[in-house]
Amino acid sequence: MLPDLSHFKPHISPEQVETCKKRFQSVVDSYKHGSDIENIVLKETHTKRVYQEIIFLGTELGLGEKQLCLAQITALFHDIGRFEQYARYQTFMDRQSENHAILGVKALKKLKGLNFLEKSLKSLVFRIILYHNRAVLPPKETPICLFFSKLLRDADKLDIWRVVTDYYCQKDRGRNKTIELDLPDIPGISKTVSKCLMNQTIVDINQISSLNDLKLLQIGWIFDLNFRPAFKAVQSRRYLEMIFEALPPSKEIRLISNMVFAYLEKQNLNNEHATVKP
Ligand SMILES: [Fe+2]
Repeated sequence: MLPDLSHFKPHISPEQVETCKKRFQSVVDSYKHGSDIENIVLKETHTKRVYQEIIFLGTELGLGEKQLCLAQITALFHDIGRFEQYARYQTFMDRQSENHAILGVKALKKLKGLNFLEKSLKSLVFRIILYHNRAVLPPKETPICLFFSKLLRDADKLDIWRVVTDYYCQKDRGRNKTIELDLPDIPGISKTVSKCLMNQTIVDINQISSLNDLKLLQIGWIFDLNFRPAFKAVQSRRYLEMIFEALPPSKEIRLISNMVFAYLEKQNLNNEHATVKP
């Protein structure tokens, strides 16, 4: 059920979004030195795509101009902590470094990059960024915060699926440890991972122990997807098919695949007429 956003008109203009884009770019450019530019560019490109995805989702859902501006700002800055994370720890794994969402909010506060926003709106953006990588959203949050958090999480997932499916589909590629999270490419899948999926729940990253498990974890994000246009995009872009094709065929994987596609089909039907009142 989507919230009624008809009275929510945040004070943000498209010009302010443009200023934020310039700020984002100058932060990214300040990290483009040394030999690891490739990984900085990976997150820069990802952010720009998430920004496009959130415009796509927000437009499809019928958001008003100012609401869309808010969504765009959350997309622009959601991964701003990634750059400092990589500079400090040379990894994108939060477990081996720091929570990149917390790092991002600290960086934004230091930059004073959102000081043009009124206090309550700035706090809202910080909370949406803080929640974007959480396993579960805080249930006691406001409906508006939850709505924009879900929107960002859907946009983020759509682009991560693009990154990983592009990678899995390249046949003669070398291995990218950053994308594979340094996991071993060994046969089989973990019992706990297949159990999570069969229960239609997302997989905890702490429970994965191989590249196959990681691929299944990425498939399981479908159970944390929220909005109709996001489900439609997953279906039309064939993200899940591509990840399943990158997994070894087995009876267990076939069972998971049948269940996942039935779930996707059902979500597309259930969400058929859902749009917000902007
Ligand atoms: Fe992201």
